[in-house]
Amino acid sequence: MVAVAILAAGRGTRMKSDLPKVLHKLGGRSLVERTLASCNLLKPSRSLIIVGYQANLVIENLRQNEGLEFVNQTEQLGTGHAIQQLIPHLRDFNGDLLVLNGDVPLLRPETLEKFLKIHKNNQNAATLLTANLPDPTGYGRVFCDSNNIVSQIVEHRDCTDAQKQNHRINAGVYCFNWPKLAQVLPKLSANNDQQEYYLTEVVDYLNPVMAVDVEDALEITGINDRRQLATAYDILQIRVKDNWMKAGVTFIDPDSTTIDDTVQIAPDVIIEPQTHLRGETIIGQGSRIGPGSLIENSTIGENVTVLYSVITDSQVQSNSRVGPYAHLRGHVNIGQACRIGNFVELKNSQLGANTNVAHLSYIGDATLGNRVNIGAGTITANYDGVNKHRTQIGDNSKTGSNSVLVAPVTLGENVTVAAGSVVTKDVEDDSLVIARARQIVRKGWRQQK
Ligand code: UD1
Ligand code: CA
Repeated sequence: MVAVAILAAGRGTRMKSDLPKVLHKLGGRSLVERTLASCNLLKPSRSLIIVGYQANLVIENLRQNEGLEFVNQTEQLGTGHAIQQLIPHLRDFNGDLLVLNGDVPLLRPETLEKFLKIHKNNQNAATLLTANLPDPTGYGRVFCDSNNIVSQIVEHRDCTDAQKQNHRINAGVYCFNWPKLAQVLPKLSANNDQQEYYLTEVVDYLNPVMAVDVEDALEITGINDRRQLATAYDILQIRVKDNWMKAGVTFIDPDSTTIDDTVQIAPDVIIEPQTHLRGETIIGQGSRIGPGSLIENSTIGENVTVLYSVITDSQVQSNSRVGPYAHLRGHVNIGQACRIGNFVELKNSQLGANTNVAHLSYIGDATLGNRVNIGAGTITANYDGVNKHRTQIGDNSKTGSNSVLVAPVTLGENVTVAAGSVVTKDVEDDSLVIARARQIVRKGWRQQK
């Protein structure tokens, strides 16, 4: 039986932020969400999150995860003090406790699974994950014998110059035999540079404590400042893009592209330079996205092209073309084989199949049928200064250049709107509407000097 505890009570002073450190986002998810997700494969019987600084925000951030127990550490007196808060909550618990720092967001679930197995097989009192880092600055140093049995952990700031030469660091990932840990937790002192109760001091009292090197040292990157947050983002990006390349996605210039790990991409998609895919975005097979596009929380069908455009909270069906320079936002649904862009903004609108809005338009709060052609510069005037109103356009209708459709207004099927019209009243099927001043030409008229 394993319980998981995540340390998430600290402020994270080195971030220089009002936001608790563990709520800073890495590729769309908070550090603590990621840390929690790394325990996915373990099926813990209990999951305890130690909260303190801005506890409500942390609890709110994790609200969607069921079965979490939040334990308050009202004063943050160190990582050891944080784990001491678990004692009353785990009175009857006899299993192992996996402890994770909430600021170590890149751990792979498989790594933790292996780590736990090693702990169990060796019946250790404690097992800790370690790594040999070329630059160990800031991390606690782990001192072991040749059998990886740990004698001591010394924080960077408490190390002598000689101790700093040891590059084997504590990852902040521990597995404890809980009854043994609970017995020694009261012994912690705050006898160190920060005058905090360090969890790492328990290795002085437990036996045996074993160090296990992580295979991929990048996984244990801890986030203490914005520099490390950016480094972690780079690591995450390389991981995400490598996975998609293995799955058949082409990146023309991967370094200029960012992909959240919540995004889904089908094979034979081509991602052009300077493209950013975020949130719950899905890209269908054969589509070509970019260059220069941002797509967030949107579903793109198969064989779609998106060129220099921004799409948020929207859907584009197969074989459509978006851009260059289109902006789709607020729940737009584009049917199959449509053409959207150049310089077109669509908001909260539905378009049927084979419909084109190809130049210089604003279409907001509108429903367009199939095979509609929106002429250059057509605008739906959806806002009367107080409320938004809808525009409906039936199948096969066309608007002439520079028309304004003043909502609420409905155009039937096969309607033609003459160029330059300002349409304020509904128009029946099969009609031509001309709503502009008639042209007057005075022959032989010339301005008198
Ligand atoms: C800690 C380890 C260090 C290790 C490093 C790995 C200790 C004493 N040191 O150092 O050996 O190399 O992690 O990343 O444990 N927290 C609380 N309550 C507190 C203090 C901290 O919940 O009172 C939480 C923080 O929110 C954070 C985590 O514990 O998520 C680690 O705290 P942090 O101050 O970042 O420890 P490090 O100095 O990085
Ligand atoms: Ca840390």
